[in-house]
Amino acid sequence: MTIAEGTSRRLITSSALPPPPVVARIPLGIGGLGAALPPTRITNDYLAAQVETSDQWIVERTGIRERRVLAEGLATSDLAIAAARAALADADMDAGDVDTLVVATCTPDQPLPSVASFVARELGLRVAAFDLNAACSGWVYGLVNAASMMTAMGGRASLLIGAEVLSRWMDPADRTTLPLFGDGAAAAVLVPGSGASGPGLLSWDLGVDGDAADLLRVPAGGSRFPATPENIAAGGHYMKMQGQEVFRRAVRTVEASCRTVLDAARVDPSEVVLFVPHQANARIVDALLPRIGVPATKTMMNIERYGNTSAASIPLALCEAAAAGRLADGDLVLLAGFGAGMTWATAGPAPATSVTR
Ligand code: ACO
Repeated sequence: MTIAEGTSRRLITSSALPPPPVVARIPLGIGGLGAALPPTRITNDYLAAQVETSDQWIVERTGIRERRVLAEGLATSDLAIAAARAALADADMDAGDVDTLVVATCTPDQPLPSVASFVARELGLRVAAFDLNAACSGWVYGLVNAASMMTAMGGRASLLIGAEVLSRWMDPADRTTLPLFGDGAAAAVLVPGSGASGPGLLSWDLGVDGDAADLLRVPAGGSRFPATPENIAAGGHYMKMQGQEVFRRAVRTVEASCRTVLDAARVDPSEVVLFVPHQANARIVDALLPRIGVPATKTMMNIERYGNTSAASIPLALCEAAAAGRLADGDLVLLAGFGAGMTWATAGPAPATSVTR
């Protein structure tokens, strides 16, 4: 697998503003970033030989040109471990510095144990470690979660990984989902912030609309429809999605969530240096930008190369932004995810100067 590593240190920081209602500042910095991607690229033309679709349709409707697919015999934890190692190296830290480990994923290796258990085993960790499933919002959920744990429990560093192998859920005959999803992982080492200006995660907005829970689902393989031969023969282990309705709700929900976070942080959209949205469909992002007032030039997109990698999508984009020199300490960064559930998670941004660890 190829590894894309972030290089610079950066923090999401806050000013000394009085906290509005939903603000609960958490001292936090990102000490390092790393990613892991399977080397196998699947092009649109390759898919067009399998189902009735075309490169033109997929590019025009989604912005995706290719996606990565993990080889048989490998699993989510293999990507997660590689991403974790890359992030630790970027942070100049050892696994022994890590006090908490959170893996955001909705495609674990197996129902039990957690992906985090395998990562912990490989890295030699004996710390609080668990998986978090909030679908494509998972990494931003994890960011708030890991930061809160760090605040409550103290510690030197928290390892937050987003890792997915969505290709295993794709129905090879379903053109409405097959082109959209890909495999990958990315990780961040979160470190406590310090300094007089009180650096940290300034505001966030996490939520779920359970009324929309059936819009995107993998029905079989759990307790309602176990992995019986009948359920599998019926294709219950493949993803089902009502794409148009997901699209509509994604635009509405992410717009409202970004407004909530920016208002709470008392930050004007023009102050956002980098917007990192979940990479589900380029047209969703195109629809969002004028609504939230952030230009495309300040938006990180890599969907054309990876498709939708669910919980890995935001950290992967963040990692690539850092590697491309698009992030500097103290930049105002806005992260926004949405996904099955339907969940949403927005976090950021950060006025004032940063303080490195
Ligand atoms: N190739 C060719 N035609 C296709 C394809 C395809 N791959 N897929 C669908 N079509 C056809 C449909 O059958 C339909 O044909 P019809 O008019 O004859 O019935 C036509 O194209 C239009 O279909 P729509 O569903 O209206 O297409 P739309 O423009 O909405 O694009 C898409 C579909 C890409 C799925 C879009 O709705 C979307 O991206 N939705 C959001 C999905 C999303 O974000 N999901 C991830 C959530 S994150 C998570 O938690 C995993």
